[in-house]
Amino acid sequence: MTTTEPVPRGPRGDRTVAWAALAGHYEAHGRGLDLREAFARDPQRVRAFSLAAPEVQADLSKNLLDAATLRFLVDLARECGLEARRDALLAGAPVNATEGRAAWHAALRSTDGTRAVYRDVAAVRSAMLAYAERVRDTAASGIRDVVHIGIGGSDLGPRMAVRALDAHAHPKIRLHFVSNVDGHDLAPVLRGLRPESTLVIVASKTFTTQETIANAQAARAWFEGAGGRDVARHFVAATSNAEAARAFGIETTFGFWDWVGGRYSLWSSIGLPLAIAIGAVGFEALLAGAHAMDRHFATTPLASNLPVVLGLLDVWYRDFHRFGSRCLAPYHQGLERLPAWLQQLEMESNGKRVDLDGEPVPFATSPVVWGEPGTNAQHAYFQMLHQGTDTIPVEFVLVRRPNWRLPADAPPALREQLARQHRMLLANGLAQAQALMAGKTADEARRERVPTAAPGFDAEVLAHHRTFPGNRPSTTLILDALTPRALGALLALYEHRVFTSGAIWGINSFDQWGVELGKALSAKLLPLLEGASSGADADGLDASTAALVERLRP
Ligand code: F6P
Repeated sequence: MTTTEPVPRGPRGDRTVAWAALAGHYEAHGRGLDLREAFARDPQRVRAFSLAAPEVQADLSKNLLDAATLRFLVDLARECGLEARRDALLAGAPVNATEGRAAWHAALRSTDGTRAVYRDVAAVRSAMLAYAERVRDTAASGIRDVVHIGIGGSDLGPRMAVRALDAHAHPKIRLHFVSNVDGHDLAPVLRGLRPESTLVIVASKTFTTQETIANAQAARAWFEGAGGRDVARHFVAATSNAEAARAFGIETTFGFWDWVGGRYSLWSSIGLPLAIAIGAVGFEALLAGAHAMDRHFATTPLASNLPVVLGLLDVWYRDFHRFGSRCLAPYHQGLERLPAWLQQLEMESNGKRVDLDGEPVPFATSPVVWGEPGTNAQHAYFQMLHQGTDTIPVEFVLVRRPNWRLPADAPPALREQLARQHRMLLANGLAQAQALMAGKTADEARRERVPTAAPGFDAEVLAHHRTFPGNRPSTTLILDALTPRALGALLALYEHRVFTSGAIWGINSFDQWGVELGKALSAKLLPLLEGASSGADADGLDASTAALVERLRP
């Protein structure tokens, strides 16, 4: 397909025969499916619901589905024309209809050199990687601190990935990330930095985003005020608006294209801080992992295509089970920012209420996605996951081999202890998934001794408090190690999964009109907060906002 051909589109999910079949199947078998019985009935269940994709193994067997569910879901994908739409996405067709653009992030990690666009991508990437290598040569560059200023997609991806790949990072360069317009974000970062050893990256696709430009101005004020010379050498930009960067005083700019959406931009020059942290070889390994997942998505039959099956499962849970949220529990501290990255990816992409024709959809779209790393999360909200009134599917991400960065002379006892702690971590993750599914009956609770219960408390009432309903679904994703390649594959998996559910819902997963209204209103409120008195300026405001402005005025 060429980028000018119309983008293929099947019927919206709810208008298919398969959707009706799924509704019937849900009533007959889905609603009442009991995981414990399903495992008892089918010794092959784990095998039947395990999938392998590049770098990621998935156990889906603890989900509320059976072979028929999967069959109907795959029928749904076919009937919605998912394969043709996927091919259009990967070929760079303008799938982002409202903005008339492609969403061609896969081109950023392609190894195909046949089209001009791939050659452009490769040229910008090699310039960016060569620059990163020069910065990494700390003896020559003198750079010890890199401050990355960006927000949304220009922050979440690199921030998350730099944290995740700490074990692979340059030992002498500290990376800092600033996103919030709130000066409480920037101020602590600037403390202790020296202008001559600091590089500031201003990352903004548009170079007009209020928060980023304000922080860049503040960073420049700090730089000049602290005796820094040569803004042009110490400030660089990752942007598709080179002109605006130049007007700011930045001469070194790494560009990208309008078809790179903010939340898909880690793979572009927005990934510069990551390239500085892990080097060109590491960055290319990240891209290679993502590309391997792109190939899996493009070529694997739907029923064993991991992003497709996960996306379909999301539709099953959201529209048939009506689960409102999904919890992400990465059991690796390095993945602590993965939930935040996924929130933007999924909720900005699929938090839509009209379809591609602008018609309101009569079904639910994006779930709320949230989470924290295990085991911390266990000591915060897992109580609700186990015994609360809502069923919330949980996604565990387990990493088989740890790879922390320790000093070369770290004592063996420390290494052994940390290795043991990694086994504790995995045991905890597995146990949570097990507990969610198995639960605990009132009988089991009655038989237990409970030394922490109040003396004399009614044993029967206590058993009710200590019962777990179980049958709560979870998915377990396993990576062998958190390498750049594995991380690339995992992130691309999520991108394609979100595309899949969006395609079934018939929505545009690539625009984000919903962020605009607040931006416009804040531009009108700012002068009211800056002005000496409210007076007539506040006219037209609702009474609540006007009163709040009054209270907040300096
Ligand atoms: O919040 C809206 C948004 O447009 C995101 O989609 C994007 O990632 C972010 O703002 C940052 O935009 P920019 O890179 O242009 O500064």
